[in-house]
Amino acid sequence: MSSNNKKLIAVIGATGQQGGGVVHALQASSQFKVRALSRNPGEHRELADEVVEADLNRPETLKAPFDDAYGVFLVTNAGEKGTDESKQATAAIRAARDAGVEHFVWSTLPDVEAISGGRFAVPHFTGKARIDRIVKEAGFPHHTFVIAPGYYQNFVGPLAPQKQADGSAGWALPLDPAVRCLHMGDIRELGNIVAGAFAHPDEAGHGEYLPLVGDFMSFNDIVETLNRQGHKFSVKQVPKEVFATFFPGAAELAEMFSYWEAYTYLGSDSSDRIALANKIAGRQPTRFATWAQVNFPVQSP
Ligand SMILES: NC(=O)c1ccc[n+]([C@@H]2O[C@H](COP(=O)([O-])OP(=O)(O)OC[C@H]3O[C@@H](n4cnc5c(N)ncnc54)[C@H](OP(=O)(O)O)[C@@H]3O)[C@@H](O)[C@H]2O)c1
Repeated sequence: MSSNNKKLIAVIGATGQQGGGVVHALQASSQFKVRALSRNPGEHRELADEVVEADLNRPETLKAPFDDAYGVFLVTNAGEKGTDESKQATAAIRAARDAGVEHFVWSTLPDVEAISGGRFAVPHFTGKARIDRIVKEAGFPHHTFVIAPGYYQNFVGPLAPQKQADGSAGWALPLDPAVRCLHMGDIRELGNIVAGAFAHPDEAGHGEYLPLVGDFMSFNDIVETLNRQGHKFSVKQVPKEVFATFFPGAAELAEMFSYWEAYTYLGSDSSDRIALANKIAGRQPTRFATWAQVNFPVQSP
């Protein structure tokens, strides 16, 4: 707890999409003081009340960042070369526990291996799920799991429409585009859930799972939504083996799409968890159509 009775929250990944939203939501409430953590604090001086160096690959840098912190938000970045999520999370959990942190919030994902009985392997999902047990057993007075959905932002980033063989712009994906399977959201809004959990540990600090879900759609739904706004996108299914050759890392993504098609992104009916997450956040997350209107403008020819 910080001296002026505001809860001091240390945010890992504060310069990124998930952690950035967490910093923003915490700052929007008068209840918190924010300590942003980065490997390069000098480049982000204005980000929060305090900006402190922390590198998950160097456990010796994780002591000072958690001193006096009431809460910690942790996300690990599977996409960064050389990242061992288990090793990084274990180091952060140990350091937070040693510092006496009271509330630990971990950004997890569903256990694809358990849900699919071993049929699909998606390491950046299952690897995060396996960290849940370490968080549970660490003995924090409060802990919460938040679940990031498929980011809307992916559609203007890594999953942006590509030129197709027939000349159209759109997507060639290894799943049936008619299957409603994708839980999605504006990732900046994950912070509302995290801030709500830190504010209400009585309601969300006993290992609750809180997914951010702004919409639940098929790829046909996504394309129809965008085309209603003036785009002319297409989507078609390609065999998994063909998709796997499209770019480095495509094989794991193909597995992920197959898992979504068979089980959905969250892997089970999560309506109770979604309702609790929205209650804790104090708002309904933004729908895809509303987000796209602002963030996915039609390009003039
Ligand atoms: N894209 C999706 O649809 C999706 C969906 C669900 C979950 N995810 C998961 O989201 C995670 C990525 O989160 P994001 O989108 O917020 O990432 P991001 O925007 O790429 O930012 C990565 C953040 O991680 C920090 N970081 C990386 N390595 C670090 C280290 N060794 N020590 C300390 N901080 C480190 C970076 O901080 P500095 O550079 O400042 O040190 C940065 O703030 C991935 O694990 C991915 O699996 C993604």
